[in-house]
Amino acid sequence: MRNAAVTGHPIGHSKSPLIHGYWLKQHGIEGSYIAQDVPPETAEVFYGSLAEHGFVGCNVTIPNKEHAYNSAEKLDDAAKMIGAVNTLWLDEAGVLNGSNTDGLGFLGNLDQMLPSWDNNGNKAIVLGAGGASRAIIWALLSRGYTEVYIANRTLEKAQKLADHFGPNTIAITWDTLGEKLGEADLLVNTTSLGMTGQPELNIDLDNLSKSAVVTDIVYSPLQTKLLRDSAERGNPTVDGLGMLLHQAVPGFEKWFGVRPEVTDELREIILKEM
Ligand code: ATR
Repeated sequence: MRNAAVTGHPIGHSKSPLIHGYWLKQHGIEGSYIAQDVPPETAEVFYGSLAEHGFVGCNVTIPNKEHAYNSAEKLDDAAKMIGAVNTLWLDEAGVLNGSNTDGLGFLGNLDQMLPSWDNNGNKAIVLGAGGASRAIIWALLSRGYTEVYIANRTLEKAQKLADHFGPNTIAITWDTLGEKLGEADLLVNTTSLGMTGQPELNIDLDNLSKSAVVTDIVYSPLQTKLLRDSAERGNPTVDGLGMLLHQAVPGFEKWFGVRPEVTDELREIILKEM
């Protein structure tokens, strides 16, 4: 029996056990996936001894993604560029591998919900410069986007990301966002604005081309103000729930040997729990 877990602190609210539990049952796999509270102080020791704890791997969430990055003996490209690890697995040789699947989750969601999403062009605007932003910038660059504008309340953080990711990424201030919107083929919110309990994301969409795709990583509520306003003016939109579901796919495949599908039924199950 193979066992995996989602680890973080606190961990009670994670939807990951529901997602992986659904797939384990769907595929008739005798395995387990639990929520395991791992305080940051003990995280690196824990990740360094996953097998002793009975796990073949785990997901990693707040506040342990950098600890997992430090613990991994082998990192893939995504983890290296994003600078954080959300998925760990022990390979056949017992080596602890680390990846960051948030960017793949972002792409998987758009590919599934709007297969033509990247046919528009190669210019994107990413709102926010935190961990999620790093994963999405990596994803867009790996898909061939050549102009990725990073708009953030704190310009220095956007500039740091632009320096890290190179000449195809450009930091802009929140104030100049309006001008840049006219050029964008894709607009992504990676900030927490619009999430239940947070202030709304209020931006003037007047200059945004009607063909630009708009997506949000916030999935609670499913239809954020950004997505509602965009849909109302005719822009194609994709909500953030699928990113959560798709980021889980690579881990499940590594731990249990089956590549699972993100089904409508799974979406419904998670929606009911929100
Ligand atoms: P995550 O890892 O989920 O991306 P994070 O690292 O805390 O989370 O980043 C949160 C992002 O939301 C940041 O870009 C933050 O902007 P700052 O870098 O200026 O802090 C942005 N954000 C959060 N609250 C905000 C607010 N009230 N107005 C504008 N931006 C906000």
